[in-house]
Amino acid sequence: MGDIQNIVILTGAGVSAESGVATFRGPGGLWEGHRVEDVCTPEALWRQPELVHRFYDDRRAKLGTVQPNAAHEALARLDAEWPGGLLLVTQNVDDLHERAGSTRMIHMHGELTSALCASCGTRVPWQAPLPPGTPCPACQMAALRPDIVFFGEMPYHMDAIEAALAQADLFVSIGTSGAVYPAAGFVRTAKHHGAQTLELNLDPSEGSIWFDESRMGTAGTLVPAWVEGVLSS
Ligand code: APR
Repeated sequence: MGDIQNIVILTGAGVSAESGVATFRGPGGLWEGHRVEDVCTPEALWRQPELVHRFYDDRRAKLGTVQPNAAHEALARLDAEWPGGLLLVTQNVDDLHERAGSTRMIHMHGELTSALCASCGTRVPWQAPLPPGTPCPACQMAALRPDIVFFGEMPYHMDAIEAALAQADLFVSIGTSGAVYPAAGFVRTAKHHGAQTLELNLDPSEGSIWFDESRMGTAGTLVPAWVEGVLSS
């Protein structure tokens, strides 16, 4: 690892699975009993705001019952101890990475603990239930919605992510199926810019062939072992 300076890590639902947070493409392809397109699209929010808001209220309330696992803890340790560049990009909307202590990180698909004003774009920290019609504290419009990036919406901080990928010496993907773009394309961007690429996942992801190395297993086991290796090299 002597030539590694800059590390970019992408995480997905698999990193939180051992904490008891459901993955998206679980058995039957349902997410907590719903088709993803029924709760995760602008059309769903428009047609069934009560259902969509309640769905994310339930997910937000569940955060209080789950804890970071060994994978989150190890990534927070790497963040604290790695002297070079590091960016953790998560597709997850839970807050387990930051509760474990990660700071150099981006929530590219939004956050359960945030609300977004559909009128003025203000993002506000949010812990309580969020019924449709809640007024925005900035513009007063009754337009607060869950701060979740739905299918067809632009992920957050793409410029910063692209810049980090261009500088990366090592790109590591953890617990993601590689089914959703643009995140699924990060491995190819990093590789194009000369990074080594490593995948840590329960099963081979859809983009598995793009990785120099794939290690199959649970994040709670694979991630601490990988972090130990990186920090002791
Ligand atoms: N350890 C490691 N990997 C695991 C574990 C585990 N304990 N449990 C499951 N996995 C793997 C699965 O094998 C799967 O490849 O995690 C992956 C989870 O895939 P998805 O459920 O598709 O989640 P993710 O890739 O994060 O989804 C991406 O899709 O619905 C959208 O916006 C949503 O951010 C989400 C995006």
